[in-house]
Amino acid sequence: MALRFEFSSLCLPILKDDQIIGFNSGWRTIHFKNAVNSINETLQQINQPAEINNAKSHTDQAFSAKHDDILLYLYELGFLELKEAQSLPWNSYHEHTLATGRAMRHAMLQKQGLDTAPNLNKETLLRSLFESYHIINSAVAHIMPALENDLSFEELSYLDDYLEEERWHGQFLYYGLRKAGISQEKIQATGPLKETQNLISFLSQLAKDDFTSYSLCISITESPSNSPGYIKQRLREWKRMEDLNLIPRDALKVFRQHEEADLAFGHGDFSKNFTFKNEFIEPEHQKSIEKTIIEFISLQGAVYKELKKITEI
Ligand SMILES: [Fe+2]
Repeated sequence: MALRFEFSSLCLPILKDDQIIGFNSGWRTIHFKNAVNSINETLQQINQPAEINNAKSHTDQAFSAKHDDILLYLYELGFLELKEAQSLPWNSYHEHTLATGRAMRHAMLQKQGLDTAPNLNKETLLRSLFESYHIINSAVAHIMPALENDLSFEELSYLDDYLEEERWHGQFLYYGLRKAGISQEKIQATGPLKETQNLISFLSQLAKDDFTSYSLCISITESPSNSPGYIKQRLREWKRMEDLNLIPRDALKVFRQHEEADLAFGHGDFSKNFTFKNEFIEPEHQKSIEKTIIEFISLQGAVYKELKKITEI
């Protein structure tokens, strides 16, 4: 099949001596390294369609210098988009969707997130930790319905491991809140914000109705492994937050360590543990997944928007 591509608006090309040597998509920076010449030759003929006849993914392996392979590789990285929706190999679509979903989530955090809020105060920060605690603690509310899907033994056992990990993470974050000076009674009495509850309900319903989109949403919201630039960026953000001295460092350390544990467990690869039954994904299905991911990210954005209004907890 012949596919046509165009540049993604979510990425900023990095230029050197009139050549594109990589790109930045907010959550990560990619350098093309030794394939720069072949990539630039291909990009000059981006209007020439690519013939994609098999379902192998390109980001996991060295690609040949062929025009078609390079275009698919750049699509999987999220640097290129499809010009018009067409049937695609699932593996390529999967890689691409994780990359663009994370770029969209990063853009949302830039707009709505707390790291960029110059007036981040103690109440907002504490309440944001509360919401993280509620979200992690609610994992059972969406993983249990996810377990009812028609999955293989290995897939069910992966979900079971994930549930177990999130269960003790919830307990761990509880002690983070205690270290922040919040009483047991206060923790028990403070439920999630309405916006957080909406997010949890959305995931619970999605786990039942559309397991494919559910698994992609989880991967997009979890920290991506295999992305050193992202990890460095997050550690810098945690350090900045700790240096504000709004709440005891020990309390923040618990929440940082939770993020590090998620990284170590490879939670960002959640969706890669499940088999998509068809080798190719049709345009209608692609559209419906994209719509769901946009909805999921905007529900997360609504939580941040609300958090910025908090003046007391
Ligand atoms: Fe976790």
